[in-house]
Parts: sequence; structure tokens; C-alpha cells
Amino acid sequence: MAARASRNFLREALYRKANLKAFDGSRHSSSVAGTAPGTAPKIPHSSKKGMLLTGATIGLLIAGGAYVSTADEATFCGWLFSATKLVNPFFAFLDPEDAHWLGLSAAARGLVPKEKRPDPSILGLEIWGRKFSNPVGLAAGFDKNAEAVEGLLGLGFGFVEVGSVTPVPQEGNPKPRIFRLRQEGAIINRCGFNSEGIVAVAKRLGTQHGKRKLAEISRTSVSSNDDVQPGGKAGPGILGVNLGKNKTSEDAAADYVQGVHTLSQYADYLVINVSSPNTPGLRKLQGRKQLKDLIKKVQAARDEMQWGEEGPPPLLVKIAPDLSKEDLEDIAAVALTLRLDGLIISNTTISRPDPVSKNPVAEEPGGLSGKPLFNLSTNVLKEMYLLTRGKIPLIGCGGISSGEDAYKKIRAGATVVQLYTAFAYEGPALIPQIKAELAQCLERDGFKSVREAVGADYR
Ligand SMILES: Cc1cc2nc3c(=O)[nH]c(=O)nc-3n(C[C@H](O)[C@H](O)[C@H](O)COP(=O)(O)O)c2cc1C
Repeated sequence: MAARASRNFLREALYRKANLKAFDGSRHSSSVAGTAPGTAPKIPHSSKKGMLLTGATIGLLIAGGAYVSTADEATFCGWLFSATKLVNPFFAFLDPEDAHWLGLSAAARGLVPKEKRPDPSILGLEIWGRKFSNPVGLAAGFDKNAEAVEGLLGLGFGFVEVGSVTPVPQEGNPKPRIFRLRQEGAIINRCGFNSEGIVAVAKRLGTQHGKRKLAEISRTSVSSNDDVQPGGKAGPGILGVNLGKNKTSEDAAADYVQGVHTLSQYADYLVINVSSPNTPGLRKLQGRKQLKDLIKKVQAARDEMQWGEEGPPPLLVKIAPDLSKEDLEDIAAVALTLRLDGLIISNTTISRPDPVSKNPVAEEPGGLSGKPLFNLSTNVLKEMYLLTRGKIPLIGCGGISSGEDAYKKIRAGATVVQLYTAFAYEGPALIPQIKAELAQCLERDGFKSVREAVGADYR
């Protein structure tokens, strides 16, 4: 079964590579439904190379799997995660957007390893009444349409944020729109909120939610374990839903309110994204008055809905790293006055810090992410932690590629962290590595929990 699924998947991937132009218009419907094309593809030479490489990798995985079948579950799991590094050269050889599609489709079909080892207990924490088994999350933009939530959480992320989702489906900017700066560990993107829209995403999340509820009912009927396990509406992990606005929409607040009405029932937390550099005028919503009006409207929309015992999902705002001191003071004041539940710091930057500026790809318009963003976003995080006096949970994002980086963000004021670019380059093996390193950093410095380390740089 698994071998057949992998074969079909591989065939579809190669077909896609060979017929990229023909596929462009129907990318999502094809990838979501998982339909393999009817006719056998004519595979170009470069794809044959890729097929050999992947065939060899899958062979190795199967042979290795047979070899370690006598090993215990944790060893086998560690081995599987390490083995995923073997496919990184194949991914590097693909166009960035195709590589992304392939990785996401693999996760959506369960063709990625599942983390079976428990997280170190030092990494567990609770925010907004939700229990996180670890503070390392996947940032928005990777699973824009909630196609692979279960597979991605299964990789061991403490939380996954889907989106940005726009009310009406939109294509985003013309391709190519994602550019690698491999040497610098960075990406420039100008996707422009390519989204299947809130209805499609709600359907998908609703189906997953229903399945989980059924599974939970059958589980609780056979066990009476009262322990509250980490996790939220997406099962064993926390699910964030990041909301965007349509490019041509003139009423931004109405767009976010629609997102809240349609998607908040599935979310453990909601994000108003006002910081993408690729939607004209979006970042102006970070101004004091605009932000205040927007948050008030979105909070009102959320609060007038019917909520059960656990209450409405917390509301966060995701900000840019390119803001002035004055902008940050305004945002902090609004966040404190309106009792915002959290801030995500940060989105991509429109600046081109060294050494990126020397790379010709740096001239591509769009937002820069990855290693060169680390210092800039961490400085904004520090500033915001001080301005909000540690009263608002902050999610640190931007340039994290190791446990030490995650630790630095936490010391700078983040309660939990997120990453995208390093995961896109390194793949699943990076997640257990970051978690193990982070646990080591905390223990090394004598902290007993993540909580204790939050904002430690200022004590
Ligand atoms: C290709 C790409 C698409 C992205 N799309 C979104 C998006 O739709 N919404 C959003 O809030 N952030 C989006 N981001 C920004 C990331 O969520 C994150 O804030 C940023 O990449 C910094 O983290 P990193 O350095 O770990 O990648 C995107 C980033 C990349 C590279």
C-alpha cells in the first residue's frame, strides 16, 4: 500500500515537473484531490535523474526500515527523521515552489515521519489556557490552505499556523515569486497571498475536526484517563489560523471579520496579518488609529459569536520587522489598551541586510526571510517585550535555524517561537534537533522550564 502510494506520488511529482506550465492554472485542485494524471508522462532527462535519486532514497528507506525493525520505537523514529536529510539534494534541485508543493503534498499524504518520542518535559508550557508540548511552531505561509495540518503536527511541531487565508480565493502574484539565497540561508518571496479562500479552508478544517472528534469519542469510551494532554482543536498540537485580506478589497476590516466568522471555530488562536510586504497598502494597517479600529472590529466579531466553556480563540497581530521606534510604541500602546492576546514578531523584511545585499537575487522585490532576518526581528522582539512590560505573550519568528536561535528569542522575550525558511531548507530532521538543543540550552543555564527563561536577558 505505502509503496504504491509513494510510486503514484512520485509519478505525479515528476509529471508535474515535466508539465509545469500546463499545471499552473489547476495547481491546487490537483494537489488537494491527489488525482494522478491519466496518461503516462514523458519524463525529461533531468527528471529521470531525480527519479533515480528518489528511487534510491526510497529503497534505502525501506531497506533501512527492514534492518532496524528489531530496534526500539524511539531509535527507529530518530533514524527515520535523520534519513529524510537524504532527499534534501533532490529538493534543492527543484524549483522552490515545486519543492514546496512536493513537501506539502508528502505531509498531506502521511509520507513523512511521525514523531513518536515524547518531548522533553522542560519544553512543555501553557499559554491562553492551551497546553503546548513544546514551543517550536511552523510559521504561516507553509500550509496556506490547511492541506497538511495533521502531517505537519506529526513532525513534532508544538503548533502549526495555517494561512494567510483570504476571504475570496485569489491566485497571488505571477510566478516565479519565491527565490532561494542558499548561501545566505534565506528566501525572498512575493507570493501575494495565494489562497484558496476561507470557504475551502473551512471545509478542510471542518472535515479534519469531525474525524478527530469521532476518534476522541471512541478513545474516551475505552479509557478514563483524566490527565489533560497537550494539544488543542487539531488534536495533539495547537492550530493557529492566520487571516489575510484580498488584494482588491477596499474594506480590510470586513475581510478579517469574514475570516473570523468562518474560521475561528477551528482555531486555537487567530492572527491578523497586517505585515506582508506583498499586498499593497497592507502594512499601513499597523498605524496607531488603523490598528486600533481594526482590532476593535475583529474582537467584536469574535466575541459576538457563541463560545463554549473554553471561550473564544485568542487574537494576535503579526507585525513587520521594518517599523520605527515610534511605530512600535504605538502598537504596544494599542495592544495593551485593547488587551490583545499576543503579537507575532515578525514577518519578512523589505530590507536587504548584509551579506544578502551582495547577492544579485537580492534585487528581486519581496520579503526576505531566513538567517539574515534573525538580528533585525530579534531586536524588534526585544523592543516590544520591554514596551509591553512582558504582559503580552510574544511569538518570536525570523531566522531561527537552531535550538540556540530559539533560545535567544525566548531570552529576548518570546514565549514560543516559529520558523519557516530553515525548515524549508533542512526538512523534518531539523525539528527534533532544535527541540533537543533548546532543552540543552535551558538546562545548561539552570532553567527548569521555558517560562522561566522568557525575557531572561532583562533580569
Ligand atoms: C514563501 C513564504 C510565504 C510566506 N507566506 C506568509 C503568509 O501567507 N502569511 C504570513 O503571515 N507570513 C508568511 N510568511 C512569513 C513567515 O511566516 C515568517 O514570518 C518569515 O518567513 C520569517 O520566518 P523565517 O525566517 O523562519 O522564515 C511567508 C514566508 C515565506 C518564505
